[in-house]
Amino acid sequence: MKPVRIAILASGRGSNFDAIAEAVTQKRLNAEIVALLSDQPKTGALEKAAKRGIPTLVVPAEKDRKAHDRKVIEALRSFNPRFLVLAGYMRIVTGELIEAFRSDRGYSRIVNIHPSLLPSFPGLHGYSQAFHHGAKLTGVTVHLVEQDVDSGPICAQESFSIADCRSAEEVEQRGLPIEHRLYPAALEWILREKFEIQERSKLERRLCVCPN
Ligand code: GRF
Repeated sequence: MKPVRIAILASGRGSNFDAIAEAVTQKRLNAEIVALLSDQPKTGALEKAAKRGIPTLVVPAEKDRKAHDRKVIEALRSFNPRFLVLAGYMRIVTGELIEAFRSDRGYSRIVNIHPSLLPSFPGLHGYSQAFHHGAKLTGVTVHLVEQDVDSGPICAQESFSIADCRSAEEVEQRGLPIEHRLYPAALEWILREKFEIQERSKLERRLCVCPN
């Protein structure tokens, strides 16, 4: 099978980008990273991508989310990615971007990793939220991206105990290696699009993605 073309969007240090790129190099993930796009002009993610010889793009952050996402779509056009993989991308994506990556089967081809066990602690600083809430367990979630923040169909999750953590930093130190393992492993089956989408709730349109 041909490698799946993916573009990675990142705003920060890029450790998840690197974990995914390493999985591609080691052939654990049948993908080609066609570009790394950042909304920040200087980031670890851009440096890491340049080191690996992956094309880098900067679409500078701006308040107007619609205008920004149009520029993102335009910047990525010639790279023709099938999936967008968000890896510490600190922007809320618009409906227009999601629709540009909507599959014929109806799901979004934008994937995200969130540092909590969703639906707990959506939004910024998931590890810190869990620590300050006094949670005994937290985790990591890989999900497809829909309009409401951190609400799209859950693909993969892993939990870990934080009962003995003394700071939010300690929680993050425990979580990051799990992210780096879980994200490439989940992408391996998500990118093949061999999954079933289940609608489990009669009360709200909530979907769940399961490998098959
Ligand atoms: C990770 O904790 C990720 O879950 C969250 O932002 C952080 C990004 O880290 N969305 P990095 O830039 O991949 O190192």
